[in-house]
Amino acid sequence: MAANKMFDVAGKHCIVTGGAQGLSRGMAEGLLENGCKVVLMDVQKEKLEKVCEEYRAKGYEAWPVSGDLSDRKDLNRMFDDAMKILDGRLDVLIPAAGIQRRHLPEEFPENEWDLVININLNHVWFMIQRALKVMLKQETRGKIITIGSMVTWFGGTTVPAYTATKGAVSQLTKSVAVDCAGRNININAICPGYMDTEMTANMTQARKDECTLRIPQGRWGTPDDLKGIVLFLSSAASDYINGTTIPVDGAYLCK
Ligand SMILES: NC(=O)c1ccc[n+]([C@@H]2O[C@H](COP(=O)([O-])OP(=O)(O)OC[C@H]3O[C@@H](n4cnc5c(N)ncnc54)[C@H](O)[C@@H]3O)[C@@H](O)[C@H]2O)c1
Repeated sequence: MAANKMFDVAGKHCIVTGGAQGLSRGMAEGLLENGCKVVLMDVQKEKLEKVCEEYRAKGYEAWPVSGDLSDRKDLNRMFDDAMKILDGRLDVLIPAAGIQRRHLPEEFPENEWDLVININLNHVWFMIQRALKVMLKQETRGKIITIGSMVTWFGGTTVPAYTATKGAVSQLTKSVAVDCAGRNININAICPGYMDTEMTANMTQARKDECTLRIPQGRWGTPDDLKGIVLFLSSAASDYINGTTIPVDGAYLCK
């Protein structure tokens, strides 16, 4: 394929979870701006519908499917609804919805542990499994992009559940790649560094400044910073890249 066509994703059918805001919204927006049809999923129904309406007003193919991805039944219903909107074809899956809960390990509430695992790990796995059943029957290549974090590599403070899930997502990505790379599937993980979203909005300014000092590029990331890597991993340009875990972190990991 000529290199000037390699990044062309126009017309691809995609699902992005967590799309009402933040990084998922940014990633979905990148795909929409490049001509994809995207189903955005989120538990924040009104916000999600408004976001999709705004995109459709710009001529983009953005469609909302609301529901709770921590609930297995709802997840399956949401996937079925998405496949109806996408006419049964799925080219790109980004199961990016995630939550973070902060407590000291000895005080971490059981229900919050279960919730974090259910969204950050279980929803990722069950979405991947549903997607594979569609993608493996298609002639064209299926692309799956999972979302890790800096805590895929090291331990974060007061986030044992979050850290466990982000390590697990990277290993899950490798495992699925081993079984599916030879069957027309690419699955890779993106690991964002410190990104300016609702998830990090409750950090104190002092803690934020401390983090900024440790980022060699000297600034926090934004949802726009993920558009390039998502375009790359969704397109033919990345066809021989599989099972990798790619930091998008302004060199945070290097220091
Ligand atoms: N912000 C960061 O610094 C950072 C860094 C590394 C990785 N990440 C990861 O990126 C992803 C997106 O994070 P973000 O910063 O945009 O967070 P965010 O809180 O801004 O967005 C998360 C979205 O997921 C949705 N969501 C949460 N629970 C859900 C559920 N049960 N069902 C359906 N939707 C649900 C929320 O409504 C929200 O729209 C997450 O997986 C997060 O772990 C974020």
